[in-house]
Amino acid sequence: MSSSYQTLYRKYRSQTFSDLVGQEAVSRALQGAIASDRVAHAYLFSGSRGTGKTTSARLLAKSVNCLRRSPGVAEPCNECDSCVQIAAGAALDLIEIDAASNRGIDEIRDLREKVHLAPALGRRKVYIVDEAHMLTTEAFNALLKTLEEPPEHVVFILCTTEAQKVPLTVLGRCQQFVFRRFNDEQVVARLRHIAEQEGIEVEPEALKLIARVAQGSMRDAVGLLDQLVPLAGTRVSVAGARELLGIADPAQVDALFDAVLGGRPTEALDRLAAVYEAGGELRQVVRAIMERCRDSLVEAIEQRDAGRRERLSAALDALLHLDGEVRRHAEPRFLVEATLVRLAVEQTTSPPRGEVAAAPQEPPRVGTEVSQELPAAPAAPAPDRWREIVESLNPLVKAAFRAARAEVAPPATLVLWFGSDIIREKALKYPHAIEAQVKDWLGQAATIEYRLDTASTNASAGRRLAPEEHPVVLDAMRKLEGTVTEVRKPRS
Ligand SMILES: Nc1ncnc2c1ncn2[C@@H]1O[C@H](COP(=O)(O)OP(=O)(O)OP(=O)(O)O)[C@@H](O)[C@H]1O
Ligand SMILES: [Mg+2]
Ligand SMILES: [Zn+2]
Repeated sequence: MSSSYQTLYRKYRSQTFSDLVGQEAVSRALQGAIASDRVAHAYLFSGSRGTGKTTSARLLAKSVNCLRRSPGVAEPCNECDSCVQIAAGAALDLIEIDAASNRGIDEIRDLREKVHLAPALGRRKVYIVDEAHMLTTEAFNALLKTLEEPPEHVVFILCTTEAQKVPLTVLGRCQQFVFRRFNDEQVVARLRHIAEQEGIEVEPEALKLIARVAQGSMRDAVGLLDQLVPLAGTRVSVAGARELLGIADPAQVDALFDAVLGGRPTEALDRLAAVYEAGGELRQVVRAIMERCRDSLVEAIEQRDAGRRERLSAALDALLHLDGEVRRHAEPRFLVEATLVRLAVEQTTSPPRGEVAAAPQEPPRVGTEVSQELPAAPAAPAPDRWREIVESLNPLVKAAFRAARAEVAPPATLVLWFGSDIIREKALKYPHAIEAQVKDWLGQAATIEYRLDTASTNASAGRRLAPEEHPVVLDAMRKLEGTVTEVRKPRS
């Protein structure tokens, strides 16, 4: 390794559009605009982390300012003074503002003073505002003033992972491009390319493992490869990758999962300790158990095994919750132990309820605390009437209400629990769709509450759902950012 070692993710930041992986729609649109000299004054690049927003923004800046680009061509020459300066991060015509650092107040003020000055070398002055959603209201307002009447020579590129936090007034002035998460094949292909360039041999299984852990973020994937290379020398093995990534041996995770679901708390603790001592990183372990649980749940739904489905769905709720908690704790071992023990104990204390389980039930609120408190006044499960109401709805609103778990709180309140705020908002738009029927059912004084249930997801309202349609599975897919690819028979 040379003394000027550059991290791989910097070294392999795409310097041309043709070197950009995926993001075809964005790439095509940007190249079209550049080639035809129709670059807009303001863009919003949104999408999840490590998908190429900053890379593309810099690429756009480089192309519009390239001194040797021929007309009708979008790619930068990467050789002229402007290209070289931009690539080195030393160009006066590219101003990068990190809104996260001080929420952009000073920079935007500064921007308003200097934005009218002509570019130094190229044709356009490009402002990249990274983490744009972090700007203060004051900074947004200042930016908006500039966006309303941008000087001819200015291009703004706002980059954000959270476009919904950007005010509509600002959004309205930008051309928006959404950057997509990469699939595992795209990540593997890119990693293989980098490894080849670097002359490193990486076992194909190790590449897959990295891609899985990176969850669609190219930055994370390349960053992980970067960590592996110095440790591995010239050959990166699966075992090495697993160890570095803190990924437990799948067989050990299986055994742990079986102990939990088999209701063997002591064994579960021992197995967890073994996984932990072998270097398994707890976040990954929880995620792996969650994946097992999801797979088993899909099988249970497929097999119409209501009892097992209930237990697994409650377990998955607890694990999803645990997954969130584990991220916030530096030393989450106790949390993991407590939840797994509790789950194991519950397997023996809550026997399958057979067909009765088809009616929606309050799923056990399994948290991270070991206490076994029950809610003070458990709400009565909503009878089949709710199901009938949902089934009678028009298709436009049916899906939103069907996603809700219904409870009747005495005397006459129908409480609808939504696992997602988006769905809750949707349902809230159509209260009249169910009002009359609910009054019919619970009396004229009936009220309806639309509540958000973040800790747990919804038990289905009893309709036979396809495995990938089940709300619990949907929620798991969203949280795990995965899809159901296979439905397997349960390990008994
Ligand atoms: N489309 C892509 N093609 C090739 N490499 C990519 C791509 N997107 C990201 N990368 C790799 O990931 C690194 C980080 O990408 P980039 O900074 O552009 O991500 P980002 O979308 O701005 O992420 P964040 O939201 O976290 O700022 C790049 O330096 C590059 O190595
Ligand atoms: Mg970025
Ligand atoms: Zn150039």
